[in-house]
Amino acid sequence: MAAATATPLVIAVDGPAASGKGTLARRLAAHYGLAYLDTGSLYRATALAVMLAGGDPADEAAAVHAAQALDPARFTDEQLRTPGASEAASKVAAIPAVRTALLDLQRTVTSKLPGAVLDGRDIGTVVCPDADAKLFITAAPETRAQRRHLEHAGRGEDISYEEVLADIRRRDERDSGRAVAPLVPAADAHLLDTTELGIEAAFQAALDLIEGVLRERGRSA
Ligand code: CDP
Repeated sequence: MAAATATPLVIAVDGPAASGKGTLARRLAAHYGLAYLDTGSLYRATALAVMLAGGDPADEAAAVHAAQALDPARFTDEQLRTPGASEAASKVAAIPAVRTALLDLQRTVTSKLPGAVLDGRDIGTVVCPDADAKLFITAAPETRAQRRHLEHAGRGEDISYEEVLADIRRRDERDSGRAVAPLVPAADAHLLDTTELGIEAAFQAALDLIEGVLRERGRSA
């Protein structure tokens, strides 16, 4: 198992909104016995802290202050995952100084044995360029919107499929178009399109890709 290896095993899982990267990353962490970090929650918590203080998430000074004073345990998952928090998160995430302020927190997780699985947008490119394995998860925007719409409905949130799709498209554009750490696959990432895959099939496909990379690198998990 990973605990027997000398250096932490790090797995990067990137991809656009609602691509299924969070579910996959969580399952991979459980499978390999690694820590898990949902890096999107850091941007979401930063944005929520700004809004609760009455500020604008696009205001650099307010967003950087919130990122530096971040208490990741302050908000519940339910508060973090509302459409408003998603939209505000992608605004604070476009501010370079916010990204810098959150970097150490993310890297600390990867420095401890037995290692960690991180999901986000720039894990394979910026946060952990030396990750042992990198996945880039995609799915058609309509499929992603259907999945996210179901999640919202499950929490009793009243938002239409069309609104969710529009939110996903807007965030994809902002995340891909920003100047710093844009949403792009790392050159050595393995692409996994989950449009036609259920959770179990996507997990098996992800495992196959990771096992292949680790074998190639002579690295055991
Ligand atoms: O779950 P979903 O994919 O909808 O979002 P998330 O992963 O929680 O990320 C929320 C927002 O945070 C994204 O739209 C990005 O703007 C930003 N983010 C980022 O810029 N870099 C990361 N490593 C993770 C999230």
